[in-house]
Amino acid sequence: MRALTWQGQQDVRVETVPDPTIQQPTDAIIKVTSTAICGSDLHLYEVLGPFLDPGDILGHEPMGVVEEVGSDTGDLEVGDRVVIPFNISCGHCWMCERQWFAQCETTQNRDQGMGASLFGYTKLYGQVAGGQAEYLRVPQAQFGPIKVPEGPADERFLYLSDVLPTAWQAVAYARIPDGGSVAVFGLGPIGQMAARIARHQGFRVIAVDSVPERNAMARRHGIEVVDASTVDDVTTAIRDLTDGRGTDSVIDAVGMEAHGGSAIPQLAQKMASKLPSAISAPLMQVAGVDRTAALVACVDAVRRAGTV
Ligand SMILES: NC(=O)c1ccc[n+]([C@@H]2O[C@H](COP(=O)([O-])OP(=O)(O)OC[C@H]3O[C@@H](n4cnc5c(N)ncnc54)[C@H](O)[C@@H]3O)[C@@H](O)[C@H]2O)c1
Ligand SMILES: [Zn+2]
Ligand SMILES: [Zn+2]
Repeated sequence: MRALTWQGQQDVRVETVPDPTIQQPTDAIIKVTSTAICGSDLHLYEVLGPFLDPGDILGHEPMGVVEEVGSDTGDLEVGDRVVIPFNISCGHCWMCERQWFAQCETTQNRDQGMGASLFGYTKLYGQVAGGQAEYLRVPQAQFGPIKVPEGPADERFLYLSDVLPTAWQAVAYARIPDGGSVAVFGLGPIGQMAARIARHQGFRVIAVDSVPERNAMARRHGIEVVDASTVDDVTTAIRDLTDGRGTDSVIDAVGMEAHGGSAIPQLAQKMASKLPSAISAPLMQVAGVDRTAALVACVDAVRRAGTV
């Protein structure tokens, strides 16, 4: 089959690779009909390079049609139309019973000090082949795949794989009080969706980004925007809009590669990702190389006793 493979920093290529096969009774194989690209894939393209091997297949937002099932895949049947969530979870362990599926103990990567395995997401998360490919092996297929009806186009369902639940969950975790406000940092797909979900639920939303077309898109959907490229200080601008207090809640939809702040973390991230992986991987796990400018601004922008 053809698949998108990681070959090195800033080097990804579509290659011919072996078709996946059933390896466990709980595996299924799907033929991928659509797959999305995520902001999280950008981290693999550069920063997380030390945790990938050349040839690793990327992608964690696929949907398709079940092609083959193992002997223990529950009611999943060949021909079912399914969306595949990013997390690989069993559905029946201690963590899954409590609905912390991203911490599934059946697929957990204890040797890496991490949670559940993820599709196409490095050695830290099981080095499972990803879904930007013609076919995908789906472990724990008795639980993960979401069956969707025939008929409507793939785009109606595809975002269930990762970005829409992520954004929805961010709004839920933000615990915005009735009649309250939320600031959303970052207006990529996650921030756009989180902002629109919060608006849909009736909250006041103030979003922050510096990309003109992303800011314009948010405005079109009734969201107030602080343009980070024109204001001196984003958190002051947010306080000015909220009686000097800050918003009740804040969502960080930027993540580890934030713009702004000190140049040092940016440089450290670049340098760490360029060292040979034997040196950089343990260094990055111990020291961390997240650029925290957005997170720091989030903490600053939330009102006292609010929720980030
Ligand atoms: N399941 C999950 O937990 C999950 C799923 C999807 C994405 N993510 C993460 O969510 C984050 C956002 O994803 P995305 O696809 O929207 O990414 P994206 O890269 O498209 O968007 C990030 C946006 O943040 C903006 N930004 C950068 N620095 C900023 C700052 N200091 N202040 C305000 N805005 C700033 C950028 O201009 C950009 O528009 C990523 O870190 C991604 O890894 C997590
Ligand atoms: Zn994703
Ligand atoms: Zn589990």
